[in-house]
Amino acid sequence: MMGTDTNCASKISLALPAAGGAALSVTILGLETSCDETGCAVVRNGQVLANLVASQVTLHADYGGVVPELATREHLRNWLPLARQTLAEAGLAPGELTAVAATQGPGLPNALLVGLRAGQAIAFALDRPFYGIHHHEAHLYSPWITGHPPRAEFDRFEPNVALIVSGGHTLLVSVEAEGRHRLLGGTVDDAAGECFDKVAKLLGLPYPGGALLDRLAEGGNPTAFDFPRPMLSEAHDDFSFSGLKTSVRYFLRDHPEVLDDPVQRRDLCASVQAAIVEVLVMKTVRAARRLGVKCVTASGGVTCNRELRRHLAGACTAAGLRLRLAEPRLCMDNAAMVAVLAERQWRRGVAPTPLDAEMRPRWELA
Ligand code: KG4
Ligand code: ZN
Repeated sequence: MMGTDTNCASKISLALPAAGGAALSVTILGLETSCDETGCAVVRNGQVLANLVASQVTLHADYGGVVPELATREHLRNWLPLARQTLAEAGLAPGELTAVAATQGPGLPNALLVGLRAGQAIAFALDRPFYGIHHHEAHLYSPWITGHPPRAEFDRFEPNVALIVSGGHTLLVSVEAEGRHRLLGGTVDDAAGECFDKVAKLLGLPYPGGALLDRLAEGGNPTAFDFPRPMLSEAHDDFSFSGLKTSVRYFLRDHPEVLDDPVQRRDLCASVQAAIVEVLVMKTVRAARRLGVKCVTASGGVTCNRELRRHLAGACTAAGLRLRLAEPRLCMDNAAMVAVLAERQWRRGVAPTPLDAEMRPRWELA
């Protein structure tokens, strides 16, 4: 985890106008290239001035999943025009940046390398500090960025249990204070988004099918078919979704007619979605109650799911918990969360990352 072991203002680069402090103005360019979205954003004093994403979803759809070589090529092609456009939208010249940040890990190795090296090179050219950001740590704080235009609301920060659910990860994290967190659990096999996408594929939907399944499930009966709720009643905070996907596969093998009937198809989507959502909601709220925190947050692509948002809201209200859901456009991978986290680290006096630091594809959230 960044922030606890490097929390030392004296280590801050001399290139900084001054070290940390709430009153100082700071403008940060962030880059995100950990998977299949090239993101670039500029954040000034908590205000997101520009946040652009060049999505590769349609490119990878033809292959039924993210192809790392293609993702890398697209990041290489996109990052510079995107950075120019982001600065233009923010109305800034590169020289007005105080610091530069990029996702350092975890993620696809070569994809990460593009944003990391680009960020380090910009920082070198401008003689500014550079921050290598943990992708999941950035997701952790994205629910605190709200409004139009978006603004980071850290004055309202409180300890929370954070659910991060995406195509690659399903994590439950106890966020005790800004920069201090503890991993409670994760998936032992497939991520929740992966389960959505694989079930969608079984239904013949294009990759990534999570959002399409969400739409198809609308109006369906979530109790029509009974699918397993893996690890729901086990006391730990881990998840498992591959068994659920397998049971849908066997169900469709035995009942292929379901796919030809629009009503049953909708019921199937609603039933699978209900199983995934129930496990995520139940385990998140249970962890929050056990730890005695008053707040739950959620982020990552699957947090766009409308049933997840609705059920988390209901369960948190019933349990007397405040809920902060990342706004849909900030649920997906983006660079605003990268730049916002870098600003918070800068203000806390966290040491910058060396300009020759390597990418960390398997960087664990401590
Ligand atoms: O965070 P993200 O953009 O990328 C990473 O995987 O890191 O998340 C993408 C995932 C995909 O699995 C996608 O199918 C899923 O989020 N997703 C959804 C919805 N929107 C996106 N899953 C269920 N319901 C949705 N509405
Ligand atoms: Zn992500």
